[in-house]
Amino acid sequence: MNQEFAFQRCIDPSCAATFGVSEILNACPKCGALLDVDYDWSRARVPASLRGFEAKWSTRRNPLHFSGVWRFKELLDFAPDESAVTIGEGQTLLRAEEQVAEYVGMHHVHLQYEGLNPTGSFKDNGMAAGFTHARMVGARKMACASTGNTSSSMAAYASAMPAMNGKKCEAIVFVGSGRIAMGKLSQGLDYGAKTLQILGHFDDAMRRVKEASKALGIYLLNSVNPFRLEGQKTIMLRVLEALDWRVPDWIVAPGGNLGNSSAFGKVFHELKTLNLIERMPHLAVVNAAGANTLHRLYNEIGVRWNGGSCDKAKIDAFYATMDAEQRHASTVASAIEINRPVNLTKALRALEWMNGVVCEATDQEIMDAKAIIGRGGIGCEPASAASVAGLKKLVANGTIGKSETAVCIITGHQLKAPQPTVAYHSLSGEELSREFGDFGVTKNPYANPPVQVKNELEEILRVLG
Ligand code: F0G
Repeated sequence: MNQEFAFQRCIDPSCAATFGVSEILNACPKCGALLDVDYDWSRARVPASLRGFEAKWSTRRNPLHFSGVWRFKELLDFAPDESAVTIGEGQTLLRAEEQVAEYVGMHHVHLQYEGLNPTGSFKDNGMAAGFTHARMVGARKMACASTGNTSSSMAAYASAMPAMNGKKCEAIVFVGSGRIAMGKLSQGLDYGAKTLQILGHFDDAMRRVKEASKALGIYLLNSVNPFRLEGQKTIMLRVLEALDWRVPDWIVAPGGNLGNSSAFGKVFHELKTLNLIERMPHLAVVNAAGANTLHRLYNEIGVRWNGGSCDKAKIDAFYATMDAEQRHASTVASAIEINRPVNLTKALRALEWMNGVVCEATDQEIMDAKAIIGRGGIGCEPASAASVAGLKKLVANGTIGKSETAVCIITGHQLKAPQPTVAYHSLSGEELSREFGDFGVTKNPYANPPVQVKNELEEILRVLG
């Protein structure tokens, strides 16, 4: 059985308790820290070089070789092949974008377009792995809290299980009422998920889903589930694959619940340990300014992973003040409107492994960057554009050199959240400011407004002339 060399391990080095892969855990039962999926690499079947994975390109009729997650199975081999779940995730694209490079002030910038996934966001990478584990342990009822993309993805996988010779699964999603983009809400409803709109924010929904799943024995598919993050590692493997296995200088990712950042750190650490890459790229995590817990803890309070002994008292004090001030996350980038990122400690570890940086971007900067990305034909939702907005700042302040290579992760598709896009492009002045309210988007220098024209050919020709 494949799983023999895979196990779960507490990320706190002073605990490091291990558990089998068939256990359903969201935290270490001994100390409460997060868990990793780990492998005894000496017994895993890892190719001698990353190029070895290319052999699977010629056998794409095998769904596990078609999948952009499972074609790297040897690096996340926690389940037997017959348990592996796929809906064709990971057919994504890395593209050099000149207009983005010019905008941020660099010679070259690549965008990794995860919006091309079946449900339009990177979450499908994680769900393929999470559902594989769920199937392995016989779970049929799953839940998550979500700002919209996790729920869309979970709902799609749950309803597609019978098509993969699996048993029908029940999907229960917890969302903050009125806080998720329409495209995402529509997906969960369409795929048949039971949708609970909690009168609160994402952070409330996250707390409640944990409580409810514990009380009712429901399988939790948020990124505290360590198996989900194994799937998200493959985003980086596809980036390397597209770069002919060359390591870029920088990976730039928007930070919400910090699952991606954590998974990226883990996979590069593993690749380096396995001698499959020669050097680590740097990681830049970009918070929205209205949801900037990581930025504040990292840059203002100076919290670090410190080899596993990070200053928990400082983190607890930060959250206590946040609660006392009743500070809630608020950003137009609703996908990352999160003040209590569940993977905070893992992300700190990733920042240490990748010698990383953190910054924040305002909603104005995010919406401007989004319009620039859109002009290149890679439409994205606001949260995704935080990566480019952050990169621009990091180049401007000299953290990133203009000749370095950067890959921005474009996490979600443009159609997920049409409302802010249409508002940005079509409104001006007072109307624009009113539409974006507290988010403070008051200008739209990259707008492409629609033109109202009478239903008369002469008038149309005049406008086009
Ligand atoms: N971008 C998009 C489009 C997202 O949906 C998310 C997270 C992120 C970035 C942040 O990624 O959590 O790994 O740091 N969305 C979650 C959700 C929270 O519920 O869909 P992260």
